[in-house]
Amino acid sequence: MLVPAKIILDHAFANSYAVGAFNVNNMEQVQAIIDAAAQTQSPVIIQVSRGALEYSRMTYLRNLIQAAAEEHPEIPVAMHLDHGNGLEVVKTAIDLGFTSVMIDGSLDETAKKPNTFEQNLAVTQAVLKYARPFGVTVEAELGTLGGIEDGVGSGHINVTDPDEAIEFIAKAPVDSLAIAIGTSHGAYKFSGECKLAYDVLEEIHSRLPEQPIVMHGSSSVPQELIAEINKYGGQMPNARGVDIEALQKAIPHGVAKINVDTDGRLAVTAAIRKVLVEHPEEFDPRKYLGAARDALTEVIALRMQQFGAAGNAPKINQIGLTEAKELYS
Ligand code: G3H
Ligand code: 13P
Ligand code: ZN
Repeated sequence: MLVPAKIILDHAFANSYAVGAFNVNNMEQVQAIIDAAAQTQSPVIIQVSRGALEYSRMTYLRNLIQAAAEEHPEIPVAMHLDHGNGLEVVKTAIDLGFTSVMIDGSLDETAKKPNTFEQNLAVTQAVLKYARPFGVTVEAELGTLGGIEDGVGSGHINVTDPDEAIEFIAKAPVDSLAIAIGTSHGAYKFSGECKLAYDVLEEIHSRLPEQPIVMHGSSSVPQELIAEINKYGGQMPNARGVDIEALQKAIPHGVAKINVDTDGRLAVTAAIRKVLVEHPEEFDPRKYLGAARDALTEVIALRMQQFGAAGNAPKINQIGLTEAKELYS
């Protein structure tokens, strides 16, 4: 059933596990995610970036995610806008029936620099004011992602400041807060070892003990998938993700949502490359997209288990947006 993310987040937070939030761009990805959730009995957040919204011409992914939720009414599914950058796209998502939105006010994309705290706060407050009457869950981001050791545009200056987090939540009480502790989007996260700023996470959690926290940029970039991609003609040298153990270590410190996109892209790419190289005569898309769907289901089911979400779907009291409005009144 389609539910607001808040009921999943609150359950995950209270029970010390994290819900996986997986990005989608097409039908096979949506199916793989719901299949993995059904197999493992996990609640799930299916998320759509602005790019994915445009790629899918606005309504297609919404309809696919609704179909997934209808196919498995026993699974709590939140339909989430990933990295919304202003009120307009949030309004579009809510009009489309999204049950959860992220307002990422951390970056001024036009100027390609971080927004000020005040700019981020103002846009987040505007989104909260708009979304609350719909019962829609709101995630915000404070700090900017980037490898701690990566140099330009990253480093300690972008790691979330705990003092700012406290002030931000007091003034914009969002349902979940994405913080930056050294992860980054994509397949090249660390040039050396995986290092995260646990001290920052721990301080934020200890000072905001009721606040569900979100980790972005949390793909693990499995080396066997990289090897498979490179074996079948790809070129992804030095790809490196966040160790699963590093994510698991973060979960007891309030991390209730973990975002994974890249691992899914890698699974899909590896499977398609393999089919096309091993069967050059093949031209039926179902053969390689079906293989991609199977490979993706496996990766996602594994993440659901690793994040502790498996088995929790039946324990969640499912409610829709109408009832969720009461949670905010
Ligand atoms: O936040 C980044 C996600 O991986 C979505 O990426 O904007 O290329 O769809 P995208
Ligand atoms: P990855 O690139 O590590 O999968 O991160 C995805 C993400 O944070 C989506 O918002
Ligand atoms: Zn992200």
